[in-house]
Amino acid sequence: MASLNKIGVIGLGYVGLPVALEFARDYQVVAFDIDSQRIAELQQGIDITEEMLPQEFEGCDIHFTDQKEDLKDVNFYIVAVPTPVDEHKIPQLDALRQASKTIGEVLSKNDIVVFESTVFPGCTEEICIPEIEKSSGLRYRQDFKAGYSPERINPGDRKHTLRKIKKIVSATDEESLERVYEVYSKVIEAGIFKAKSIKVAEAAKIIENTQRDVNIALMNELSIIFDRVGIRTKDVLEAASTKWNFINFHPGLVGGHCIDVDPYYLSYKSIELGYTPDVILSGRKVNNQIPHFIAHKVATSLVKSDRKLNQCRVLIYGLTFKENVRDLRNSRVFDLVNGLEKFEMHVDALDPHADPNDAEMPSHINLIQDAKGDYDAIILAVAHEDFIQMGSNHLLQHLKEGGVIYDVKTVFPELQSNPACIYLSL
Ligand SMILES: NC(=O)c1ccc[n+]([C@@H]2O[C@H](COP(=O)([O-])OP(=O)(O)OC[C@H]3O[C@@H](n4cnc5c(N)ncnc54)[C@H](O)[C@@H]3O)[C@@H](O)[C@H]2O)c1
Repeated sequence: MASLNKIGVIGLGYVGLPVALEFARDYQVVAFDIDSQRIAELQQGIDITEEMLPQEFEGCDIHFTDQKEDLKDVNFYIVAVPTPVDEHKIPQLDALRQASKTIGEVLSKNDIVVFESTVFPGCTEEICIPEIEKSSGLRYRQDFKAGYSPERINPGDRKHTLRKIKKIVSATDEESLERVYEVYSKVIEAGIFKAKSIKVAEAAKIIENTQRDVNIALMNELSIIFDRVGIRTKDVLEAASTKWNFINFHPGLVGGHCIDVDPYYLSYKSIELGYTPDVILSGRKVNNQIPHFIAHKVATSLVKSDRKLNQCRVLIYGLTFKENVRDLRNSRVFDLVNGLEKFEMHVDALDPHADPNDAEMPSHINLIQDAKGDYDAIILAVAHEDFIQMGSNHLLQHLKEGGVIYDVKTVFPELQSNPACIYLSL
């Protein structure tokens, strides 16, 4: 058995890069990605996601590479490749299969492969391990072992960093679990929980995000109801949360590649096993309709104030899938833009965090650098810190008299009593 742990991290995105750099403070790390441009940037200490600062590359024992041969001496693999869904919401496991195949091609006896990508329960042992066995010619359990350790990193969050987040680990058997535990213990300060099995650890991660999705869906549904009642959801939640066991969630746009995706991984597995998960799928349906609900609300308010929709200009603040990140993947703001454009309104969008050249940026989005002129409606879609600092007066400066302000996250509730605008929020 190899005693020295040389770590290989496969996939260096939002999850893999912070993992690789943290491990490289305590271990020798080979950091592998198929994206050669990303590797070239990382070799210069540049992380275009802006999650890791140049100084966080300093003092690390790390070799960034797109050459799989460089992984040959590794004996502990950590996999953090993407696990998206396709347009039919079916899990896309190509990256995971490909990464498993790559590892199989360089795997040696007694190595351990730990998956961190979010998957449905059973995926690691039913899909990834057979790929590794096939390309390595080695046998699972006898020749190599596996683990699963779900990732809880929260991009844009400088407080809950990898070392400070409690980690779940799981593995093939007791012996490999001890080894996985030991390797992670050196890096994770917040404590490590040993899950009963790989499937349990996979399920734990998926329900963390599914629980969040369903709870936000309930808040979004309440928002639609209270809009008809004519009261504000924020006011209701403020009152209800005075009860000791009321759980605090808020309505909002649910996008990104975790909460917006992971419930589909669980429902996929569930349907495969013969059960259609109504609660989970209803939650998804409600959350997916929120951008259209907002677009409709803005349109009807503009019509009520005697404006012609095809002459209305709307400015959206924020395009990324959540606040203070550059990540545009599955941003629900794009659905909001589409919803507004269906009413033939002219939509401009402003987001200092969004890269206009990002492949995820839809070509029809009218991304502007500065608000120009007056708008009939302004939507504060993403509560970036810069926008909060800007203050509500800034929004009013670019709004036509009596125009609509839709404050998705209720950042500026003081506008509610301002006669210069029609103030709406979820
Ligand atoms: N981003 C998050 O907030 C977050 C949080 C927790 C868990 N996760 C999960 O972690 C996993 C990774 O997510 P991410 O956001 O870091 O993805 P990402 O898209 O930011 O990065 C993935 C990286 O993997 C690389 N890659 C793809 N296929 C590869 C292969 N075959 N071999 C080597 N590299 C390959 C890509 O080039 C990319 O650099 C996903 O399963 C995701 O659900 C993400």
